[in-house]
Amino acid sequence: MKYFIANWKANKNQPEAERWIDAFLKLYQPKEDRAVIICPPFPFLVNLKQKISQVKNLKLGAQDVSRFEQGTYTGEVTAKTLQGLVDYTLIGHSERRKHFSDSNESIHRKISLAKKYQIEPIVCFGDKKDLLNLDSVNFVAFEPPWAISKGYEDSIRTTIKETPQNVLEVKKSLNLSSNRHFIYGGSVNPSNTPAYLKFDEIDGLLIGAASLDPVSFYKIIQA
Ligand code: PGA
Repeated sequence: MKYFIANWKANKNQPEAERWIDAFLKLYQPKEDRAVIICPPFPFLVNLKQKISQVKNLKLGAQDVSRFEQGTYTGEVTAKTLQGLVDYTLIGHSERRKHFSDSNESIHRKISLAKKYQIEPIVCFGDKKDLLNLDSVNFVAFEPPWAISKGYEDSIRTTIKETPQNVLEVKKSLNLSSNRHFIYGGSVNPSNTPAYLKFDEIDGLLIGAASLDPVSFYKIIQA
């Protein structure tokens, strides 16, 4: 199975989210060996959930969860709140580490809270120093910060931001057990997708900028 994870980050408003999903559903044809996970901003989850609930191999993910379980934490979105709404959540994205002080300790707490509420964590790391104990984690996403958001349009021309060989080296150095899913992210686009996906060792892609347009995201899934 190959996983395609769309990370919309802090983009789109309600009408744009709706247009995206309507356009995507017109194109999307489920495949046995491809799983698609859309991670929109929180406010769009309920509406998207209604639209995709009957669609095969298409799931929702959150972009983060709170490190708190519940209570007096104004503005937080907890795993408990998200239970039943999402199947996955990103945790430890480099942008959370950089702008929102996510630490290894808070990431550990988020992982265990997500699991407690039956949400599968997809744990992102960009550097060996970000690495945690991954024993309990089924999805690990390697995203070198320097390769992220290097301009989607530009990256179509230059095609590859992190060579697949380097990505494979990183995976090797992690000594992951064989049932762990190893995902790559960083300026993935329709033209560089095949270069990553041809390796069995890369189980999927985490896609930011190129997922904002339903057609380019669909092309990545089809690649
Ligand atoms: P990008 O983002 O595809 O725009 O580089 C990937 C990510 O940050 O998840």
